[in-house]
Amino acid sequence: MAEKTTGSSKRKKAAESPASEKTVPADPAPAETVDLPVAEPVAEEAVPPVAAEAPSEENIDLPQPRRSVAFIGSECYPFVKTGGLGDVMYALPKALVKQNCDVKVILPRYKCIPWEYQEKMVYRGEFYMDLCSDGRSFYVGIMEYVWNGVVYDFIDNEDFFRNGNPYTNLVDDIPKYCFFAKAALAALNYMNWVPDIIHCHDWQAGLVPVYLRSVFSGSPVASAKVILTIHNLRFQGIYNIATVKYWSGLPDYLFDYAVLKQGADDANMFKGGLTYADMITTVSETYAGEIQSTFFGEGLDAHLRFHSGKLRGIVNGIDTELWDSSTDPILACRYGISDAIEKKKENKLLLQEKLGLEKDSGKFVIGLVSRLTDQKGLDLVDFILPELIDGNTQIVVLGTGDSRYENSFRYYEDAFRGSVCSNIMYDEGRAHQIYAGADALLVPSLFEPCGLTQLISMRYGTVPIVRETGGLKDTVLPYNEYDNSGNGFTFDRYEAWLLLDAINRAKTLYFTNRERWDKMVIRDMEKDVSWENSARKYRQLYLELKPNY
Ligand code: ADP
Ligand code: GLC
Repeated sequence: MAEKTTGSSKRKKAAESPASEKTVPADPAPAETVDLPVAEPVAEEAVPPVAAEAPSEENIDLPQPRRSVAFIGSECYPFVKTGGLGDVMYALPKALVKQNCDVKVILPRYKCIPWEYQEKMVYRGEFYMDLCSDGRSFYVGIMEYVWNGVVYDFIDNEDFFRNGNPYTNLVDDIPKYCFFAKAALAALNYMNWVPDIIHCHDWQAGLVPVYLRSVFSGSPVASAKVILTIHNLRFQGIYNIATVKYWSGLPDYLFDYAVLKQGADDANMFKGGLTYADMITTVSETYAGEIQSTFFGEGLDAHLRFHSGKLRGIVNGIDTELWDSSTDPILACRYGISDAIEKKKENKLLLQEKLGLEKDSGKFVIGLVSRLTDQKGLDLVDFILPELIDGNTQIVVLGTGDSRYENSFRYYEDAFRGSVCSNIMYDEGRAHQIYAGADALLVPSLFEPCGLTQLISMRYGTVPIVRETGGLKDTVLPYNEYDNSGNGFTFDRYEAWLLLDAINRAKTLYFTNRERWDKMVIRDMEKDVSWENSARKYRQLYLELKPNY
């Protein structure tokens, strides 16, 4: 990994301050030159909105007081997205702006971010930052883009962020996210923008709370409270202590079982963040409970039980402007609640035509839009898929992931041509067309922290068929034939025949009582899946956590 690669400046600034003795119990970090960063002059349009305590004319109707929040995470739609984290990093800040929050989103400036966004970024400044335990120093550039009232600050370093995909392998990812976590905090100091709250997301930002309460503890940014949100506990950033210690430059005392240490000689970046976060949240109430059990805890259940006093579940929403079938620019045939039943048939025919399926609006079309990994319950789908093909049912898969699943879906497409279409690709546009054109959407996950595809599908009038776990359990009310209520079909134990049974119950209703089915379609479209309620809960949390000044 080459150092000092990007940018022309030869100035060197230590953007973080020495550890304060007060908060570092043992083995404090070596003192560094105190050279507190000074904000650079910035082009006018790049200056972020300043956190204001007093209501201005524009925000007079907004809830008071105003809160300033820095989001730190590894992906964000539309710049870079591999899954739901990208959706949340886009939609939640936007929703928080409406809750009178001043939000800055700090992201890596990956090379893969499309040029249409890269070209709009404005240079905000640069400095050099010590990172590794041997004091190696690295360039940190800040590029800014302001959009929808949210300020996006991209941390630039060509070597760390050179790939076409944010995540490659741990050998690269561990140094990359050590650098990112420290650079994000250093950038806040550098920009002189100290938020009330630092809100970090997943293991890639796991070291932020650790840095904040150690090497940054005497610096301005340390007055912020820090929240760490678990989007998926399966990925934790675990690597041998020697490597994490080298790249992070963190002091020895942090490599203890209470913080970063795990097993005999590993360091766990997520675990360290959970220890030092002032509050831990996860993306549904059910998952907040589940992760404290051995099965869902991914080895951190005891740690989470220990910290359960500061753990909360707040369910995700979706951006209802982005996901709106009446305005969706990707759909050739748009629809609202009043014409959904008819127009969804047209969308189904368009989908069938595009994908080479038999064109017939009477067929029951089941969609699956997913990362193709063990988490998503695909072994169950794999097991029962042949049973679903009865001449009246079609399956449309969109996803990439483990070759085992990719190949199996390719095989089924070949074996059941005209009834099964496997789109082994990542394609936002096609996802929209499937949500609009399918009758039902499968989400039979083994575990699901929240899940967004079931929310999107309901918004598009596509009935979800889900396993009762995590956020799926919290967001899909099972159909009740006695009072004709509910939003979808559910099953509990992770068994293939229970999934088959749930799909068959859905098919039975679809083919034998279309009136009731159509009512469920409308109920789903009317359901509130927006961020509004949950953004309010986050705001409440931000108010509970008083900054340290
Ligand atoms: P996860 O984050 O675990 O992958 P979520 O349900 O939270 O699952 O979010 C998945 C997001 O990624 C949704 O916006 C979904 O539409 C999108 N998505 C998943 N796979 C694909 C794909 N192959 N092409 C386009 N969008 C996809
Ligand atoms: C994760 C989870 C998913 C959740 C998403 C956004 O990727 O797997 O369930 O919806 O994060 O929070």
